[in-house]
Amino acid sequence: MGKVKSVLRHEPRQGYHPLDLPPRYLPSSSHAEMDMDIVSAMLYYMALVAVALSIAFGLLLLKTFTGESLWSSKYPPVRGTVIDQLVRFNRLHDYMTGLTRRSMTFRLLAPDQSDIYTADPSNVEHILKTDFDKYTKGKYNMDVMKDLFGEGIFVVDGEKWKKQRKVASFEFATRVLRDFSCCVFRKNAAKLVKVLEESSAASEGFDMQDILMRCTLDSIFKVGFGVELNCLEGSSKEGRAFMKAFDEANALIYWRFVDPFWKLKRLLKISSEARLRNNITLIDNFVHRLLRTKRNQLSGLREHNDKEDILSRFLLESEKDPQNMHDKYLKDIILNFMTAGKDTTANTLSWFLYILCKHPLVQQNIVEEIKEVMGDQATEANPDCFVESITDPVLDRMHYLHATLTETLRLYPAVPADGRCAETDDVLPDGFHVKKGTGLYYSAYSMGRMHNIWGEDAEDFKPERWLKDGIFQNDSPFKFVAFNAGPRICLGKDFAYRQMKIVSIALLYFFHFKLANEARPVTYKVMFTLHIDNGLYLRAVRKLAT
Ligand SMILES: *[C@@H]1O[C@H](CO)[C@@H](O)[C@H](O)[C@H]1NC(C)=O
Repeated sequence: MGKVKSVLRHEPRQGYHPLDLPPRYLPSSSHAEMDMDIVSAMLYYMALVAVALSIAFGLLLLKTFTGESLWSSKYPPVRGTVIDQLVRFNRLHDYMTGLTRRSMTFRLLAPDQSDIYTADPSNVEHILKTDFDKYTKGKYNMDVMKDLFGEGIFVVDGEKWKKQRKVASFEFATRVLRDFSCCVFRKNAAKLVKVLEESSAASEGFDMQDILMRCTLDSIFKVGFGVELNCLEGSSKEGRAFMKAFDEANALIYWRFVDPFWKLKRLLKISSEARLRNNITLIDNFVHRLLRTKRNQLSGLREHNDKEDILSRFLLESEKDPQNMHDKYLKDIILNFMTAGKDTTANTLSWFLYILCKHPLVQQNIVEEIKEVMGDQATEANPDCFVESITDPVLDRMHYLHATLTETLRLYPAVPADGRCAETDDVLPDGFHVKKGTGLYYSAYSMGRMHNIWGEDAEDFKPERWLKDGIFQNDSPFKFVAFNAGPRICLGKDFAYRQMKIVSIALLYFFHFKLANEARPVTYKVMFTLHIDNGLYLRAVRKLAT
């Protein structure tokens, strides 16, 4: 009996205590005594943990609100804290858009650093271009992203960024890569048509986003890494597991931006951080296997110098500088290029098809344009032959399609938000001051919905806003920021448009698309790229050969 009693005796008795049981519930056998021992110890530790957590939370709040010049009008107005983002995580982009409507530049308080959000194009130009050197990706973003994206081009600054950018831009500018990639995009578009022919037989609809992801994954593996993955036709189980793990990791990493406890969770290897770790292990193993295969391939081909893919170029570079360009670094490069090539394109094509289902007239207009531009070639009934006629001149003449894809990206930007970190104190073009270490974020998603940027019809889907006399017109990259801007502007922009145009021409030539279920809400999942949550279920009706 001793232990229970002694715990109770030393406990100051104030109010209700869980062990204040009526006498008839008091344990009498020694077995029950043991149980009470365990229960009281557990309650004791739970109370301790609760106290520790509240203290931690209190400190976090204190840290969040101190040293922030809360009321100073020199700094952007405070609209909340990172906790507001946590609570509204599932609708984050719309929540941020609502705040942006109240003021184009504002602050959200965070424990580590204060965050500024801006949708003002002149501020965006300032941080992405004019004062490029003062704004880096920053240590904070690096900390959050490093476990998945390592030291890849999306994460690093300075020399490492310059080096990767140089090798990649050289490679991207070559005619060889351009021709090779178009060839791959066409072949995969034809495969996609065949996969849809099978899927369209099933009347309950199919997840188009998943199919597009597999298609663009195949494309980037071939163009980027010179490997035939064949995920689209479903023969690569390994590839699909990898794809799934990568999506999960992408979402779990993004969660860190709003979870103040992620570092603690990583240290303890618990909950979301434990799942993230497992997914990353799967991803890493897959990529390391790819690297080994690639190295073997390359040493066999030593004499030939016509390396068409990007990875081969980096592998050759790594032979000159094996100290810095080790396997881990190459792995990071692969994962970064993969994100750039796969998710962005597949997500944009998914939103594009969603919009076409919602706006049948726009779908009709594109079909008309295909007929007009391709003329006689638009009577081919064999997918393999048809895609051969989607040549560069054809792509260049598809202005309405180009405008529709651009309008899709304006409202559903593939990378919905991005940011930089201020390396020095600064003043933004709109007059607000920035303290060194502050995170500066801009949301392409919010900017696309601002009336003072795009006019009263900002939220309407209007491809015509990009056309003048039927010819596509570019707009400022600081207004339309879907491809980033300044020295870090997307290297693959032309590749992305080419792939998206080839795929959409092939799809819309052979099929008419409808939503499988009009009543099912379509919304995004919050992660680095703008995924459609739970996929996009479509029906495709094969058009009769004309
Ligand atoms: C990856 O993360 C998801 C979701 O958090 C989890 O359900 C899954 O088990 C993880 N995968 C692995 C291989 O651990």
